[in-house]
Amino acid sequence: MEPDACAVVENGEMRKFRGDTSCTSSTKGYPMTASTTFIAKPGGSVSGRLRVPGDKSISHRSIMLGSLGNGITRVSGFLDGDDCLATLRAFRAMGVEIEGPDNGALTIHGVGMQGLQAPHGPLDLGNSGTSMRLMAGLMAGQRFDTVLTGDASLSQRPMRRVTIPLGQMGAKIESAEGGTPPLKISGGAKLKGVAYEMPVASAQVKSSVLLAGLYASGETCVTEPAPTRDHTERMLAGAGYDLRRDGSKVCLTGGGSLQAMTIDVPADISSAAFFMVAASITPGADLWLEHVGINPTRTGIIDILRLMGAKIELVNEREVGGEPVADIHVGAAALRGIDIPESLVPLAIDEFPVLFVAAAVASGQTRLTGAEELRVKESDRIQVMADGLVACGIDAAPTHDGIVIQGGQGFQAATVDSHGDHRIAMAFAVAALRAVGDIVIRDCDNVNTSFPGFVGSCQRIGMNIEMV
Ligand code: S3P
Repeated sequence: MEPDACAVVENGEMRKFRGDTSCTSSTKGYPMTASTTFIAKPGGSVSGRLRVPGDKSISHRSIMLGSLGNGITRVSGFLDGDDCLATLRAFRAMGVEIEGPDNGALTIHGVGMQGLQAPHGPLDLGNSGTSMRLMAGLMAGQRFDTVLTGDASLSQRPMRRVTIPLGQMGAKIESAEGGTPPLKISGGAKLKGVAYEMPVASAQVKSSVLLAGLYASGETCVTEPAPTRDHTERMLAGAGYDLRRDGSKVCLTGGGSLQAMTIDVPADISSAAFFMVAASITPGADLWLEHVGINPTRTGIIDILRLMGAKIELVNEREVGGEPVADIHVGAAALRGIDIPESLVPLAIDEFPVLFVAAAVASGQTRLTGAEELRVKESDRIQVMADGLVACGIDAAPTHDGIVIQGGQGFQAATVDSHGDHRIAMAFAVAALRAVGDIVIRDCDNVNTSFPGFVGSCQRIGMNIEMV
């Protein structure tokens, strides 16, 4: 792949975009298609009760581990968004019988660790980085060849972060120039265990190596530079796999088997985050978010909002299928700007688009550092958010690894481009609650990747938003 003017190669990985202001999101090369536009209007309220859709990370893993289990895995609360459906289709294409989703219910007829069959063609994983990176690890351990492809955005995302450690384990994986998809994975490789120290804090990389480790000889260990979401570890343990944790290191020995499970997927805290911010910034708001996963590796959004002065209460905390869950009560609050602690960045990695909206409303300055990973998500979330905020009249200055936002300004009417990034689109829908005119958000189809029914959920709690 030819890097465009805004692409740059760092640490051997193609990073999509140069992090300076001359490289605006409009130059960033995603093809514009005629697609859904949101018109988010000011003057809405935020009150009532809402159960947002199921957790994306857990839903992906339920398909993968359920498919490889011995026996029938039953899932409830499955997220039937496009990303998880891409994983579901891929496993069906490898011969796994999966019934549903029917109102979030799935029945997966597990085929066992060696039971997957060669698919008839490439596995198209759409927009889903999680599917591609986790499946790269799993496919490396199969007897048959696979090709993993994705959409325009996924085709620009860095994969060396998984192909390098998997290569050290003996996997044979070819990528496009620049280390991007498609990934051509040769079957029949004899994988051996590895002790891998991750250079970036990434749950996707950790999971990819651990999943390959299931098929490797000997012990596979991954050490992370900072805690990242641990759903893979919890779910492997839930399937009866022996996993050893020692501080930042997690190890397993290949050659074991997975038991079938019953999986209750909690509501996704990353989707709930939009409404936590919506309630925090809206005068008179009083919102309950039900049955939300509050795994401590995911709750950075709550910690950051509380540091900004948010009123967030966790009620009825309980454990469901190995994951902590709570109902979350959020009311309006006078937010203030903060320097976001870098230790919280991996624990809130998907929530920054909407946190930037909170920062724009908060009094004073908010500064984010240590978050260069945001530049290689579904879009360059630092640049695309900065462009959108500036279009709304907010003083937002991107830096190479974060952003500085001067808050307390209110949003002007504007048209913003989400660049096909679901979380950017939803963040600006929330911004309209504090705008003086309509915020028109372009290219919103991909909201369906993580939050089907988003517009309906907004309307149910009193937000004024239309889809055209
Ligand atoms: C995910 C891990 C995170 C996150 C992504 C889902 C997962 O990515 O951004 O949406 O399910 O493992 P990284 O681990 O690459 O930061």
